[in-house]
Amino acid sequence: MKVPLLDLQAQYASVRDGVQQAVERVLASQRFVLGDEVRQLESSIAEYCQTKHAVGCASGSDALLLALMALDVQAGDEVLTTPFSFFATAAAIARLGARPVFVDIDPRSYNIDTARVADAVTPRTKVIMPVHLYGQCAEMDPLLEVGRRRGIPVVEDAAQAIGATDNGRRAGSMGLMGCFSFYPTKNLGGAGDGGILTTNDDQMAARLRRLRTHGGVNEYEHAEIGINSRLDELQAAVLRVKFPSLDEWSEERSLKAAFYSQLLNDADLSFPLTVPQVRADCRHIFHQYVIRVPGHRDALMEHLKTRGVGTKVYYPIPLHEQECFSYLGYKRGQFPEAEAAARETLALPVYPELTEAQQVYVVQAIKEFRPEN
Ligand SMILES: Cc1ncc(COP(=O)(O)O)c(C=O)c1O
Repeated sequence: MKVPLLDLQAQYASVRDGVQQAVERVLASQRFVLGDEVRQLESSIAEYCQTKHAVGCASGSDALLLALMALDVQAGDEVLTTPFSFFATAAAIARLGARPVFVDIDPRSYNIDTARVADAVTPRTKVIMPVHLYGQCAEMDPLLEVGRRRGIPVVEDAAQAIGATDNGRRAGSMGLMGCFSFYPTKNLGGAGDGGILTTNDDQMAARLRRLRTHGGVNEYEHAEIGINSRLDELQAAVLRVKFPSLDEWSEERSLKAAFYSQLLNDADLSFPLTVPQVRADCRHIFHQYVIRVPGHRDALMEHLKTRGVGTKVYYPIPLHEQECFSYLGYKRGQFPEAEAAARETLALPVYPELTEAQQVYVVQAIKEFRPEN
């Protein structure tokens, strides 16, 4: 049996007709940038995320950049974030000349350790930017509390977490802004790059709309220097076809995750393995299902590969150890939890179309793994 890490073709089969009609509609209109498709997607996403506004842009990476630009983040500023995320999180901060200040993670959730955040705040801290990793919200209340006390806005990197909740509140609705990615592998993925920002703040929404079109107030009239980061109509049209299925797909992912955890907890393995922990009162949308296997991660991945099971590490090098951030002066050993997670975790296949038989096969293959020491 083959169990790929992800099977986008299976999903496409279920939306193919709608996607093809939507693409044809846009082609027939010959309106490709920031038109009705984008406006309607923005309004659906704002409603879904429980925010007043949503502003489409070219990618999740640009959503982060635009959010920080809208807060005037610049050289000399510090932005608190996690060292255990996709590169774009820290890159957005560094691109503006500001300094990413990393705070180690909670080893249970892999999200920023909120107990350490207050101590990392300095007079230069301009933004707190948690990441909702793997589809589970960072613990928002303590972060929002530090932000309130110190007058620092919170921007959510919700790229992996559309529809996740923390005590009933949707990802992207708790901080001043939320940043989402429509990269094809996301729970709601387009046919290429795309992203969106959410906010309840009228002024921020207006500024984001301006910044994504080169800071233009009217055509050829520029109030400030923005970037070109527009969501195109083709992407928005494809996303609108998939959007009504998002909750069902995320629910399916959660069911698969629960089934994996049940099978793995009952498996009586000969080596330690930790399944993902879901925080109480939270909805985890399982963008990734990530297990922890101290000491044997790479050997287990090799073993699963020989059995036809796809796995991947998100992320093998913590951000403070990336070569391009060496100028920040961080050293290995400084964020032991992030470093351990990078060494010990791996993602198993999880997607709505994954079958029970495939899951049983994956867990059987894990049971048959014999670590060498
Ligand atoms: C946590 C996180 N932040 C930011 C991004 C960037 O999104 P994009 O790939 O759409 O630029 C991603 C996507 O991969 C992500 O996972």
